[in-house]
Amino acid sequence: MKKQSKAIILLKMLGMVKPLLGYMLLAVICGTLAFLAVEFIPVFGAYAILTGLGYDLSISLGMIFICLIFFALARSVLRYIEQRTNHYIAFTLLAVVRDNVFKALRKLCPAKLEGRDKGDLIALITSDVELLEVFYAHTISPICIAVLSESIMCIYIGSFHILLGLVALMAYIGVGIIIPLIISKISGTTGDEIRKMSGNMSGFVFENIRGIDTTLQYDNGKERLDSLNAMTDDLSIKQGRLNILTGYNFAIANSFILVFDIIMVVASLTLFRNGELGFDGMIISIIALMSSYGPVSALSSLGTTLQGTIASGARILDILEEEPETEDISGKENIDFDNARAEHVSFSYTDEKILDDFSIEINKNKIIGILGKSGCGKSTLLKLLMRFWEVDSGAITISNVDVKDINTTNLRNMESYMNQDTQLFKDTIKENIRLAKLDATDEEIVEACKKASIHDFIMTLPDGYNTQVGELGDTLSGGEKQRIGLARAFLHGAPFILLDEPTSNLDSLNEAVILKSLKEESKNKTVVLVSHRQSTMRISDTTVMMAK
Ligand SMILES: Nc1ncnc2c1ncn2[C@@H]1O[C@H](COP(=O)(O)OP(=O)(O)OP(=O)(O)O)[C@@H](O)[C@H]1O
Ligand SMILES: [Mg+2]
Repeated sequence: MKKQSKAIILLKMLGMVKPLLGYMLLAVICGTLAFLAVEFIPVFGAYAILTGLGYDLSISLGMIFICLIFFALARSVLRYIEQRTNHYIAFTLLAVVRDNVFKALRKLCPAKLEGRDKGDLIALITSDVELLEVFYAHTISPICIAVLSESIMCIYIGSFHILLGLVALMAYIGVGIIIPLIISKISGTTGDEIRKMSGNMSGFVFENIRGIDTTLQYDNGKERLDSLNAMTDDLSIKQGRLNILTGYNFAIANSFILVFDIIMVVASLTLFRNGELGFDGMIISIIALMSSYGPVSALSSLGTTLQGTIASGARILDILEEEPETEDISGKENIDFDNARAEHVSFSYTDEKILDDFSIEINKNKIIGILGKSGCGKSTLLKLLMRFWEVDSGAITISNVDVKDINTTNLRNMESYMNQDTQLFKDTIKENIRLAKLDATDEEIVEACKKASIHDFIMTLPDGYNTQVGELGDTLSGGEKQRIGLARAFLHGAPFILLDEPTSNLDSLNEAVILKSLKEESKNKTVVLVSHRQSTMRISDTTVMMAK
């Protein structure tokens, strides 16, 4: 993944708002007017007192009260519109971002996701995307609102005396820019570290739930619990640090505000004494500054969250911009399966060469058995035939066409692939098998299950084919899962069947039924059969020994 500068990440995150620019403008205008309405309530209060004291401010007492009521009402309505619009923008963008992240994950699958930490991926889909809500609803428009409304206040206060306008400007810059930047520097990557630690912890918990048997078997419970406790302690310490910083942030911002209030009082009093400012100007300037910190105070809390938000944005952009190992192909002429071939294929996942100048000829309606030591690249060869990965050199062809030039849907429809690890989804057994052919009839499913020697077992379950796999959880045996995987491969009905250790967990009775089914299938189907079992290999027409 490439490293991008924070400015570029921010610009790209901002770029996503483009289609909703009109809404953003509405939110900024309403937010600015709402803050001005709040800020001018005390100012008009001062107008009322000064008018009562006999100062002529060219506005009647009645008019001042009408304005006060108007400001109070307008503030609520405007704030409501601003909040609603900002959240509309944020949640619309979150939906778009989530959709794009899922599309990207789908594209990167399986090659680029094989080695990734699953806890981290879940944190990306959940907390990283949610953190963007802070950016779109509580960062962009508050910054624009603060700039606009405080500029107006500077001009207003400056209209009494330029020096007072400058004092206000410095106060706003301090609270809205300098303090958040300092706090952001101090808090550094704490927010992001918290996110990473939660991601690691989710991964750790998943791993432990899955591996609970191993933990019990080797009596590692205490060690595992200690590790989890250590992780939660670290997380609490970091969270505590962030909370302390938020407290400091609040305290520093408030002290800063008090200091500038005092500076304003001293400056305006001095100007009044020197005759450069009227009494009314002095009172109004002080009250205007004191009541106008709202928009910049809203920014002061950004210091603790900004780095985390940028880091989340960076991770999401990384996934969105990551190039898949293999691009989906479309727009080519669809072909029919005739034969498959690996021609002088070399391949490595990283540095180590897994296949080196490997060739194999797979003829139509034959069963090719593949043997070889564990780790020699048998599963890898099947993944290359599926084009989950691209070869480094040489070619994989189907019907004499390079798989790189075959439409991906065409390729998937020609191939039934059963890997070493059958994944079941939380659904009925029937739907778990039907996913191999969405329009399959119940009869077709039963037929596939008979071929895979799993039909009799399914019939013994309380609800037969409608039994929920979720309810059974891990109570399905390895062999039962494997036969469900096989039933899927049979149901898919593709002319080219790739089976990775389909019988490794089966007893010889079930193996015999399956081998018989396979032999019958191979009258009009081509099968690549990876297996260590000599008994399974007996049905193959040719056997290839892979060496490493
Ligand atoms: N995604 C991956 N990234 C890096 N290395 C990998 C990846 N997948 C597999 N390998 C490595 O490639 C080598 C070949 O793996 P492969 O799964 O093809 O072996 P195999 O012949 O199927 O072994 P087995 O008989 O144990 O199933 C192994 O050393 C494995 O560790
Ligand atoms: Mg394997």
